[in-house]
Amino acid sequence: MSKGLFITIEGTDGSGKSTQIPFIKGFLEKKGYKVLLTREPGGTQIGEKIRDLLLDKQNKEMCDMTEALLYAASRAQHVKEFIVPALKQGKVVLCDRFVDSSIVYQGKGRELGLETVKSINDFATCGLEPDLTILLDIDPEKGLERVKENSDVDRLEQEKLAFHKKVYEGYKDLSNLYPNRIKVISADQSIQEISSDIEDKLEILLKEV
Ligand code: ADP
Ligand code: TYD
Repeated sequence: MSKGLFITIEGTDGSGKSTQIPFIKGFLEKKGYKVLLTREPGGTQIGEKIRDLLLDKQNKEMCDMTEALLYAASRAQHVKEFIVPALKQGKVVLCDRFVDSSIVYQGKGRELGLETVKSINDFATCGLEPDLTILLDIDPEKGLERVKENSDVDRLEQEKLAFHKKVYEGYKDLSNLYPNRIKVISADQSIQEISSDIEDKLEILLKEV
C-alpha cells in the first residue's frame, strides 16, 4: 500500500462518530496499519483556529457563505499540510468529517446548493476524495437527544430540528449518489454492533487495496 488510505466518517450530530473512531483505529492497527486520526473543521493549528470561529455560539452574525468558505479554508490547509503528506508516506488517515459534511450542512442545510459547495471544495482539496466513507445513520432527532444529554451544544448543533432533518436528507442523497464509496451503517444499535458492522466494511476495503 504505497499511496496510503483515506477513510472518513460522517453522520448527523450525535450519530456516534467520536465513539466509533477509537475502535476503527484499534482494528486497523491490529492489522499492522499506521493510523493517523484527525478531524474537520480543524486538524492543523490554523484549522483549529478556524474551528473555534465556526463553532462559537457568539458568532450569530456569520453569514452562510462565510461559513461555507471557512469550512473549505480549514480543509484546504488540512489537505495540504496534513492529509496528503501522510497519504504519501503510505499511512491510513482516519478523518472525522470531510467534504461530504460541507455538501450536506452548507449545501443542503443552509441551502447554498450542492454544486456550489462541491465546486468550492474541489478547489480547496484539489479534488482529493476518500477511499471509503462510513456514514452513521440515525434519526437526527435521536442523535441530537444524545448530544444534548451530555455536552454544551455548539453553534451548528443548536440549529433547529428542521435544519438537521435537511442535513440527514442530504446524507441520504449522497449515499445514493456514491454507493461505492459511502457505506451506510445503522447507528441505532449498540456501540458493539455498530463497530462490528464497520469492521465488515473495512475488511472488504482492505481486500481491495
Ligand atoms: P458524534 O461524534 O457523532 O457527535 P458521539 O460519539 O460524541 O457522536 O456520541 C454522542 C453521544 O451519544 C455520546 O454521549 C455517546 O456516549 C453516545 N453514544 C454513542 N454511540 C451510542 C450508541 N450506539 N448508543 C447510545 N449512545 C451512544
Ligand atoms: P463536529 O465537532 O464533528 O461535531 P459532532 O461531533 O457533534 O458531529 O463538527 C462540528 C460541527 O460542524 C457539526 O455540527 C457539523 C458541522 N460541519 C459543517 O457544517 N460543515 C463541515 O464541512 C464540517 C466539517 C462540519
